[in-house]
Amino acid sequence: MVDEREHKSLWTVTAPLRRYPALSEDLEVDVVVVGGGLAGLTTALLLKEEGKRVAVVEMHRLSSGQTGQTTAHLTELLDTPYDTLMSDFGEKGARLAAESVRASIEKVAGLVERLGISCGFQRVPGYRYAETDDEVQALEREASAARRAGLMCSLTNEVPLPYPVKRALRVEDQAWFHPREYLRAIAERIPGEGSHVFEETQVTDIHEGAPCRVTTTRGIITCQDVVEATTTPINRGLLHTRLYPYRSYVVAGVLEGPLAPGLYYDSADPYHYIRTQTVEGREYVIVGGEDHKVGTEEDTRRCFAALEEYLRQRFPVTEAAYRWSGQVIEPADGLPYIGCNGGSRHVWVATGFSGTGMMFGTLAGMILTDSILGRDNPYAALYDATRVKPTVGTRDFVHENADVAFHFVADRLVRPEVHDLSEVPPGEGRLVEVEGKKVAVYREEGGGVHAVSPVCTHLGCHVHWNKAERSWDCPCHGARFSPTGEVLNGPAMKGLTSKKIR
Ligand SMILES: Cc1cc2nc3c(=O)[nH]c(=O)nc-3n(C[C@H](O)[C@H](O)[C@H](O)COP(=O)(O)OP(=O)(O)OC[C@H]3O[C@@H](n4cnc5c(N)ncnc54)[C@H](O)[C@@H]3O)c2cc1C
Ligand code: FES
Repeated sequence: MVDEREHKSLWTVTAPLRRYPALSEDLEVDVVVVGGGLAGLTTALLLKEEGKRVAVVEMHRLSSGQTGQTTAHLTELLDTPYDTLMSDFGEKGARLAAESVRASIEKVAGLVERLGISCGFQRVPGYRYAETDDEVQALEREASAARRAGLMCSLTNEVPLPYPVKRALRVEDQAWFHPREYLRAIAERIPGEGSHVFEETQVTDIHEGAPCRVTTTRGIITCQDVVEATTTPINRGLLHTRLYPYRSYVVAGVLEGPLAPGLYYDSADPYHYIRTQTVEGREYVIVGGEDHKVGTEEDTRRCFAALEEYLRQRFPVTEAAYRWSGQVIEPADGLPYIGCNGGSRHVWVATGFSGTGMMFGTLAGMILTDSILGRDNPYAALYDATRVKPTVGTRDFVHENADVAFHFVADRLVRPEVHDLSEVPPGEGRLVEVEGKKVAVYREEGGGVHAVSPVCTHLGCHVHWNKAERSWDCPCHGARFSPTGEVLNGPAMKGLTSKKIR
């Protein structure tokens, strides 16, 4: 079987994590946190520090989800511009969003200092820059909105990049860190005093009640509250219509020559995001971008090639040492959903973080800890997971859900990519017509053939082959499966059905 993490991130390679056991018997705790990424581990630690007995349940390994694929910019420059937040959430809402993101960066800084975490946390300036006159105009509007929202920012022509830019919005006191070194330290503090971390244990069902019952592949855990920190919630049909899954790509090049510490963003759509990282005396420049809707790019290797070209054209690099990609979940109205979902009182969700989940994952930990303890939180109402803003993001809502409906129907009608198994190249997957039915076929490098149903086990859309990551990806809500059909990414909880072919 192909290693589905073939494209390992710089973080994954340079900060191995110790193994945690799988659940081995039924258990009772106060809170089950599903998902061992930044949001889940932060929430679990904060709850434990408040005296709760927690169990983190992770289906793969800790930090193997989007947190392992991040670029770990800690910034107040959100994916949704402040200009948009001002018109959609009002000046008060935009100010509160900015304040909450600032508070989450300070929360990380506080944990790093208090727990003595060695993860290269460093304060750096952030720059969003413009390269054309039109971009300058948009940047000036954004600068004015960001100032009104309370950011410590200014417009400048001085940007320490090795290529010309026209103007930039500079924001002070942003930060970066090594995300896995940070999470390794957070995770190590969770087990003990009735709390646990379990890996390779998949949650398959959550039953809300008094107590709640969390069914896993290894046993049942009863608890008072459940937090779904799984990137996309696992059992929330309606919320999925307000979450749009995108893939984003990253290339890290070995830097030959200096680059001033900073977080840099161009104004392209989709934009590029840039930072550096030193590991074992080598400095890397890390460039991300080329985002597209999951399962819709004909050849995802193109995205890496385009990014590498961008990197080489703009920075003095000797080699592109690392390349990886991951999933970002865009929320319908531009802000994440954190809190109880409709009808629930003890099942909590944290999702829709866009490309800014380091802050929103931390914020989820802060908000959900307060909510579970019955305390007021100043940001809880803004991120309320039940909110529906009918006038905000309507065009995207209609477009994205029409897209889901389109894929549901059209992908069934599309002709198979090849008609004969012999046409599936080694190491590749193709949709093949076998005995009048479409089958997703993967051929191992060594020749062995695996066949699975192309019907996604979430809500029935058809999966597409991802050439760069060698996975079956679902364009509807972003579920991903290994070449042989095992679940890599939710919201699907069951693997693709195996098919026998002659
Ligand atoms: C390429 C890229 C670059 C990014 N850059 C930045 C950046 O610079 N700054 C920033 O702030 N954000 C960035 N982000 C976003 C950020 O990385 C994510 O939003 C964040 O890591 C999400 O954390 P999480 O804990 O919610 O999810 P994850 O880290 O994905 O964790 C969820 C976990 O839940 C587990 N899980 C799922 N279903 C189940 C189940 N049924 N049972 C048990 N476990 C389950 C998964 O295996 C996974 O480990 C980037 C994202 C990508 C992809
Ligand atoms: S992820 Fe929802 S149908 Fe596939």
